[in-house]
Amino acid sequence: MTATTPQPQTIPLAPSMVASWKVNVKIYRYNPEQDKKAHWEAYPVECEPGDRVLDLLNYIKWYVEPSLAYRRSCAHGVCGSDAMLINGRNRLACKILVKDLIKNGGTLTVEPIRGLKVEKDLIVDMEPFFDSYRSVMPYFINDDPTPPGERLQSPAEREVFDQGTKCILCAACTTSCPIFWVNGQYIGPAAIVQAHRFIFDSRDKGAAERFKQLDQNTGIWRCRTAYNCTEACPRDIPVTQLIEEVKRAVLYQSV
Ligand code: SF4
Ligand code: F3S
Ligand code: FES
Repeated sequence: MTATTPQPQTIPLAPSMVASWKVNVKIYRYNPEQDKKAHWEAYPVECEPGDRVLDLLNYIKWYVEPSLAYRRSCAHGVCGSDAMLINGRNRLACKILVKDLIKNGGTLTVEPIRGLKVEKDLIVDMEPFFDSYRSVMPYFINDDPTPPGERLQSPAEREVFDQGTKCILCAACTTSCPIFWVNGQYIGPAAIVQAHRFIFDSRDKGAAERFKQLDQNTGIWRCRTAYNCTEACPRDIPVTQLIEEVKRAVLYQSV
């Protein structure tokens, strides 16, 4: 326990909150400057059932434990910065409601996403994740002369890669994958989703380069179709299906 560990007591409400539930928020905490190892700390909180887990974390940070570290930005499920392991499953803290996880008097557990080095509390080092993302060249490649007007694409051609455009790079998929847990070199589902988005874009010409990247030892064949990634995705992207489509494209070297 650290010197800043709060005593178990019900935290008073913020003036703007109308409380009706009392819940316990257990957070897996680690401060590399103070702690030899990570440990649980519990915070009793009064809240409304419709509050989001991010509201509770903000409340704890602003009123109880200012040293609590976590990432968040948009608070509306768009920026992808607050993926966490909440009650045993990867979720966005700003999207999941307390009432959808527990009942009045229940306990929420909040841990950092797995497979990436914890820097402090709920903040992990995202660089390996973004290295994999960058490795699939997640941008439009086409050296043909620019046509007058636009590079046209039919609605049907656009539909083929529509799902991948919804990705917010939250890493919930990659850090729920058992293959990634045991081998952090595995490129991971998020990078494959990003590769899919460009490989299947009828205007893009970079598929062959991406196939080379994906066909490596740490690439797409590491996937064992565990489906955790699809279940974890907060944008409801059929991640495993997109991975299978990319596998077929790599196998036949065509889209
Ligand atoms: Fe997050 Fe889904 Fe993108 Fe994976 S595919 S990074 S879970 S939005
Ligand atoms: Fe992992 Fe998803 Fe494949 S969980 S094993 S990337 S289907
Ligand atoms: Fe942006 Fe949750 S804070 S997705």
